Amino acid sequence: MKVLVTGANGLLGQHLIRQLVDEGKFAIHATGKGSSRLPYGEKNGVTYHQLDITDTKRTQLLVEKISPHILIHAAAITLPNECAADKTACWKTNVGGTRTLLRAAQKAKSYFIYVSSDFVFDGKDGPYDETAVPNPVNDYGESKLLAEKMVSMSTLHWAVIRTVLVYGGKVPGGRPNFIHWVKEKLSAGERIQVVDDQFRTPTYVEDLAKGILLVLMKHAKGIYHISGKELCTPHQLAVMVADVLQLDAGKIDKVTAATFKEPAKRPPKTGFIITKAVKELGYVPVKLEDGLRRSLGM
Ligand SMILES: NC(=O)c1ccc[n+]([C@@H]2O[C@H](COP(=O)([O-])OP(=O)(O)OC[C@H]3O[C@@H](n4cnc5c(N)ncnc54)[C@H](OP(=O)(O)O)[C@@H]3O)[C@@H](O)[C@H]2O)c1
Repeated sequence: MKVLVTGANGLLGQHLIRQLVDEGKFAIHATGKGSSRLPYGEKNGVTYHQLDITDTKRTQLLVEKISPHILIHAAAITLPNECAADKTACWKTNVGGTRTLLRAAQKAKSYFIYVSSDFVFDGKDGPYDETAVPNPVNDYGESKLLAEKMVSMSTLHWAVIRTVLVYGGKVPGGRPNFIHWVKEKLSAGERIQVVDDQFRTPTYVEDLAKGILLVLMKHAKGIYHISGKELCTPHQLAVMVADVLQLDAGKIDKVTAATFKEPAKRPPKTGFIITKAVKELGYVPVKLEDGLRRSLGM
């Protein structure tokens, strides 16, 4: 079975490709905007294609040439501040890129799996289940929601997998994720300020990749919330990182989100209720502390 993955160089992408390789039953077409940062090649069943999804023509040609049975779309401009700084680029990539992929997947009638975000919600009354009404508060969230809508209105068999604050082991060339930032700062003896008035259910990247595989194997249709189970603030998460690494949690100052003048507004309380994924897919996330230990190599 042929599976095409966008965003394969990213935090999720790299872990997802490894799990797909481990399954041993897929011809994997990994794509990324830059050159490959994957440690896999043809002998692992992985072919890498450099592809900018804003290049409509090339995207159409490549997808039609591969004709994938499954298309997992994880590529995006993922930083809310980057989307706020350049709304056009954000729209072109997150919305336009998704539209192009949906059109390109029509001929092959690919099963289209789209990776979305808790930032489709306003964060007034999380944690959320799949029936909650989205209402994004920033450009990134708006772009992800619009892409979701296009996916759900398409004639393809589709699934939307939303996730929250993804953490995991470092990947080559990846942007630093929160837990590694905490580790670096505390290891260097620096004080850090971390927000204590936002709530999330952090997601271990291996669980997210596993959740995507469960959706894929069951050929599930619809929206699925895939995250960890434990609701916490970034400050609480940072303290857990310090405890796991036996670093000084006293150097982590509690602050409110208003302390930082961020270009993009953040939803205060998101996090997910994952009952649907547990019941329908058999999805079981690790405990947050275990996920942190594995991610930090402890
Ligand atoms: N990380 C989180 O906390 C989080 C939370 C909720 C939802 N999500 C969603 O989960 C998905 C994966 O996130 P992630 O954390 O793995 O993100 P990531 O590490 O930032 O990776 C995103 C990838 O998208 C690729 N990309 C960006 N623009 C592109 C373009 N124009 N054409 C082709 N590829 C392009 C990049 O490729 P290159 O590296 O090759 O440039 C990058 O590797 C995203 O859809 C994101 O919205 C993530």
